[in-house]
Amino acid sequence: MKCLFVFCFVLFSARIAVGVNILAVFFTPLDSYQKVFRPLWVELSLRGHNVTVITTDPVKNESLVNLTEIDVSYSCYRISDELALPNDNLRPEERVKLNVFGMSLPAFEAQVQHHQIQDLLRDSSNRFDLVVMEMTSSPYYGFAYLFDVPWVGVLPHSTTLASDRDVGNLRHPLLFPDPTVKSYTGRNIWMRLYLALAQLRLIYSYDYEIMPELDRIARKYFGDDMPYLGDIEKNVSIILTTHNFITSKPKPTVPALIEIGNVHLKKNVKLPQDLQKELDKATNGVIYFSLGSNVKSANISSQLRNVIISSFAELPYTILWKWETDHLPGKPDNVITRKWLPQEAVLAHPNVKAFITQGGLQSMEEAIYYRKPLIGMPFFADQMKNVRSIAEHGIGVALNTDTLTKEKLKSAILEVVNDKKYKEKISELSDLMWDQPMSGLDTAIWWIEYVIRHKGAKHLRSPLLDLPLYQYLLLDVLAFVFGVIATTLGLLYAAYIYTKPVIQGVVGKNKVKSN
Ligand SMILES: *[C@@H]1O[C@H](CO)[C@@H](O)[C@H](O)[C@H]1NC(C)=O
Ligand SMILES: *[C@@H]1O[C@H](CO)[C@@H](O)[C@H](O)[C@H]1NC(C)=O
Repeated sequence: MKCLFVFCFVLFSARIAVGVNILAVFFTPLDSYQKVFRPLWVELSLRGHNVTVITTDPVKNESLVNLTEIDVSYSCYRISDELALPNDNLRPEERVKLNVFGMSLPAFEAQVQHHQIQDLLRDSSNRFDLVVMEMTSSPYYGFAYLFDVPWVGVLPHSTTLASDRDVGNLRHPLLFPDPTVKSYTGRNIWMRLYLALAQLRLIYSYDYEIMPELDRIARKYFGDDMPYLGDIEKNVSIILTTHNFITSKPKPTVPALIEIGNVHLKKNVKLPQDLQKELDKATNGVIYFSLGSNVKSANISSQLRNVIISSFAELPYTILWKWETDHLPGKPDNVITRKWLPQEAVLAHPNVKAFITQGGLQSMEEAIYYRKPLIGMPFFADQMKNVRSIAEHGIGVALNTDTLTKEKLKSAILEVVNDKKYKEKISELSDLMWDQPMSGLDTAIWWIEYVIRHKGAKHLRSPLLDLPLYQYLLLDVLAFVFGVIATTLGLLYAAYIYTKPVIQGVVGKNKVKSN
């Protein structure tokens, strides 16, 4: 009986959770990207899907039997050094071009030579049911055509102008400028003009400079029968985007755009023993300082470094600094450095009182989860925006690295640690962030399996995609209405001008008569 039951159960579960073959493409060699996506492909394989993933940061875990990882980490050296430099003077479309031509394209061209990717390109017996790809513009979109399957796009940040357009999510240039657009707080007419023109330039550059070049490269590998790469991009079934209401305002979204937050959080991470001891000992409080993985602290200018060091030396706290080289020149006694730190475990420690961050999205999510107030020290454009929102939400203090002094940094840290309001505010946001029907990861998996079950999501397609923009904006209607009004006014005026001498004549004659 028991056997029969088990047999039935196995049959039944096999029926409801049919594992399908998924190709996952997570090729951008940035830690912040890989960290968000990894739980996704691991979880898909654990749920019985047969996952093949192209990644620069493989898990290499033998127990994940349903997971095949194509390790393309060797391609990272191709990435342009310019990208590592904080450069805020680039125009938005220049920043996008730098990302595509300085990172995505060189990474693709290096990775595509990998023999396992060559096998995928050559061997038509590689049958997949779904492609899950990061929505970073690249020739990889060609895989959706090659295997003739629906595809799901994933973004490790809020949507870009391009991805919004793909699913017909109209993006208002003032309320939601592209993340690459520097947004200012002032809202005068010049600012609005700047934001509107920046969006037009981005669209132009994407459609006429970036996409045609990506299409040209993609054809070399996917063949000339491939539809235009931009059309494959627009064929995306749904987009999963990590978004939270701290770093981006609540935003209207079409049904095909699904927000998933906190996907990367591991929770229950352990500290290495030596560090655990150090932090336990520091009962005065610990300040955690990390600039994330893209800004290396060793790359910050020596002037800024000296300001930071001299300020730390005067604090009554222990400072835990993620510093990527062996030696920190002039290291004060209260500073501990490590080349790498399990950030979640550090933030979870009760003695940690505040977190000095560059303002990366994942770092902010972790700080909110572990309720640690922030001191923001931004370097890149979207970090500026994130750090500004730290101050706006009252969960910390924003600093400007260009004008930072020892006193400013010191007083910012003292204020965040000693004023209870920051801690209270971030705890409040933490409660809000977790009050959701499903976790980010569960939401992501549910929607991916939804696309598998329904072989795409055509029924979610926004009607905007089939409507010319001028019609959506009612430009023709407005033109017609104004045309009618203008014509009427014009006719009245003409009638007035034409009849004026006549009327005057009549009136004049009457006057003469009556005189
Ligand atoms: C592998 O997939 C099968 C179904 O295809 C599933 O039963 C099994 O639990 C999966 N194993 C692991 C370790 O993910
Ligand atoms: C869009 O996707 C479907 C499969 O879901 C495919 O049949 C169709 O050819 C694709 N169109 C383009 C332009 O890629």
